Amino acid sequence: MASRKLIVDVHSHLYSPRLVSLFRKRTNLPKIISRFRDDGQKEERLVILDDEPGGGRPVGPIYIERDEKLKFMKKHDIDISIVSTANPWLDFLPAKEAHEMALQLNDDLEEYCSTGPNVPNTSIRQLYGFGLLPLVPEITTESLLETVRQISASAHLKGLSNGYPRTAGLVVFIHPHYGVGKAWGEKDNGHVLPLALGFPFETTVAATRIILSGVLDRFPSLRLLLAHSGGALPQLSSRLKHDARFYLGKLYLDAVCYGSEELGFVSDVLARSNRYETGSKNVALGDRTTGSKRILFGTDHPFFPPLSSSEKWKSVVENLEAIENVHGWTEADKEGVKGGNAISLFNL
Ligand code: URA
Ligand code: ZN
Repeated sequence: MASRKLIVDVHSHLYSPRLVSLFRKRTNLPKIISRFRDDGQKEERLVILDDEPGGGRPVGPIYIERDEKLKFMKKHDIDISIVSTANPWLDFLPAKEAHEMALQLNDDLEEYCSTGPNVPNTSIRQLYGFGLLPLVPEITTESLLETVRQISASAHLKGLSNGYPRTAGLVVFIHPHYGVGKAWGEKDNGHVLPLALGFPFETTVAATRIILSGVLDRFPSLRLLLAHSGGALPQLSSRLKHDARFYLGKLYLDAVCYGSEELGFVSDVLARSNRYETGSKNVALGDRTTGSKRILFGTDHPFFPPLSSSEKWKSVVENLEAIENVHGWTEADKEGVKGGNAISLFNL
């Protein structure tokens, strides 16, 4: 085993070369366009949202190449990343193509992980993945089940994104793409409103719908990991039926919210679920330990890169600082959130 505690990033994305070449060929969204910047340099931009401000976002090797992922991990002392295909996944394809593409992308991701390096002096890999389900309207149950079986049989795919089949051992990552509504106002604030607010609110709605559907009663062993610390759900759960408080404590949340006060609060709300079960009401500071066990470090790499390639990424530095400074979390709680909880959840 490594001497220091491992840091595990559970929220880390890629667009595989296969998906990138598809984006390059497309004329409708999502697509990659080439253009010249003001300084005369040619660049590629990925446009995935309708009316995306600024003509999309620059997309380059950090989104695609495994070496870039590994360099980023090394720079920030991240030992292991659980990598998922970034949005919009395969939502834009007809069912048959989405199914075929999902199978190919899952094979690509298994190879990406299994041929990557180990954590030094361990038999643990540095890269694991979430497989992808072709969740498009006309897809057949048989196609979905075939994809689930493929993911389950792939040794380095430890979960899947966006869908919740009752699968032995797979963790389900619930991640947004569409946002909710379009109430962004007249002023051009770039990506701020759709990404900072629309994204987490989409997750809030998705998780609430899962809770209200009774899925967690039918499949109590389901392990759902919500992106961006569950969005607004921790704040709003008491406005739902009070049972929502109880179910919230059955979920796992990433720690991608950039603030220690938020993480402290989220751990209180998760801990309250335990109290709720035993009928006692008030959460004490010490209960934050219980809540912290369901929170896992993430970065959202490669989104939000720094302006200069020598800088550390704020998405890492701020999320690690936030974990470090949560009032009431013990050193062991912080180690858990940084990596230990993921090692248990994904059975690494
Ligand atoms: N993070 C993501 O995962 N996707 C985006 O589109 C932007 C940020
Ligand atoms: Zn993300």
